[in-house]
Amino acid sequence: MTNPADRNATLAARDLKHIWHPCTQMHDHETIPMLPIVRGEGAWLIDAEGRRYLDGISSWWTNLFGHANPRIAAALAEQARTLEHVIFAGFTHPPAIELAEELVRITPPGLDKVFFADNGSAAIEVALKMSFHYWLNQGHGEKTRFIALTGSYHGETLGALSVSDVALYRKTYAPLLLTPILAPSPDAYEGEPGETPAQVAARRLDELRALLERHAHETCAVIVEPLVQCAGGMRMYHPDYLVGLRRLCDEYAVHFIADEIAVGFGRTGTLFACEQACPGSGRGAGVSPDFMCLSKGLTGGTLPLSAVLTTNAMYEAFYAEYGAGKAFLHSHSYTGNPLACSAALATLAIFRDEPVLERNRALAAHLARRLEPLRDHPHVAEVRQTGMIAAVELVADKATRRPYAAGERRGLRVYLHGLQHEALLRPLGNVIYFMPPYVTSEAELDHLVEVATAGIARAVAD
Ligand SMILES: Cc1ncc(COP(=O)(O)O)c(C=O)c1O
Repeated sequence: MTNPADRNATLAARDLKHIWHPCTQMHDHETIPMLPIVRGEGAWLIDAEGRRYLDGISSWWTNLFGHANPRIAAALAEQARTLEHVIFAGFTHPPAIELAEELVRITPPGLDKVFFADNGSAAIEVALKMSFHYWLNQGHGEKTRFIALTGSYHGETLGALSVSDVALYRKTYAPLLLTPILAPSPDAYEGEPGETPAQVAARRLDELRALLERHAHETCAVIVEPLVQCAGGMRMYHPDYLVGLRRLCDEYAVHFIADEIAVGFGRTGTLFACEQACPGSGRGAGVSPDFMCLSKGLTGGTLPLSAVLTTNAMYEAFYAEYGAGKAFLHSHSYTGNPLACSAALATLAIFRDEPVLERNRALAAHLARRLEPLRDHPHVAEVRQTGMIAAVELVADKATRRPYAAGERRGLRVYLHGLQHEALLRPLGNVIYFMPPYVTSEAELDHLVEVATAGIARAVAD
């Protein structure tokens, strides 16, 4: 019997007395339970009363190798006994050095410099500021704008939100934000009837070219989420878009910022999504962006850490006598935190030692087979998948793809059904998605799909 002081209701009440949670209308918790999780084990989260929830969304897309992963935990414990933190200006430490070497080794060619920050949004801020500052240092202070894709999401701080296009998060703060130039997303779901994803990508590249023709002179960079626009509803697009984007950025002298915060570290089937963009013969090793932003899975979901990788050319544009005023004077107190770097090194060691991508391919194929029957569901417009990200788009009308009104909160019904049946599914509006840790078994995937299918039946029942 659990001590009553530790039971779910008691902990939830104490929480709600003082804590303001992220991305939440707190009033919802008058009817929706606040769940105190006290332990994690593999793909499972365990609450204060011993109930279990299969983490189908990797705790906001961060977890790769299971909760309380013993290998990462051991690395952390060792580091905590050695050096927990040190100022990262004027000082360095072995975990950061080793991690930077590893990141340069595994990311696309040409990304030879690493700037650390401590969360995804902070990495986006760094990339945006660096891009602008690069052009300024090159004598192009007129370049002050960014091109972002419709439906994109890059975080919640003001700069990151400025280049995001999810109304739910952006609309309220619009008066405070930079005004990006929006390019139509190559999202295949929004294609014309009969158009293939590659054709959508080609058409959207033509539209991007037209925008660059007009705006390149005032544009610092184009920022994209490679292959999957995650928070925008797990919308997916053809890798040709990335090939064309690289060419256009070169042709029009603007930077290419790849936000791989959600899709990096094996999510899409390759270590990085940019690897799937194969120029020319189709045998290339992917495209190299000018900036690659990483976070989330970087520490296996253990601690906040992010990194912006960029080129030597970018670095050189800031490298000068102090008096020239060209330095990148951006900092966060916890930049390059040794504990977080150690967690990241342990995570990358798992990639080195185990056939992670192969295993993911088998798991992804299994997930695809299990989701297949949902294609015929009368309220499912599309089942789509890129590697270990799969999504089911619910609609009010299958023939016209008319969406359910957001206010109906159909996805919330799936969420609540999931909690009652040992599954954490957290739909994005009407999109039910699966983004499980890589240690999830086939049987556990079956459980997620079964619960989601029953939840969808409940969600569309009236
Ligand atoms: C693609 C992408 N970029 C940036 C972010 C922001 O990361 P963070 O939540 O760590 O600030 C997210 C978060 O979901 C994301 O999905």
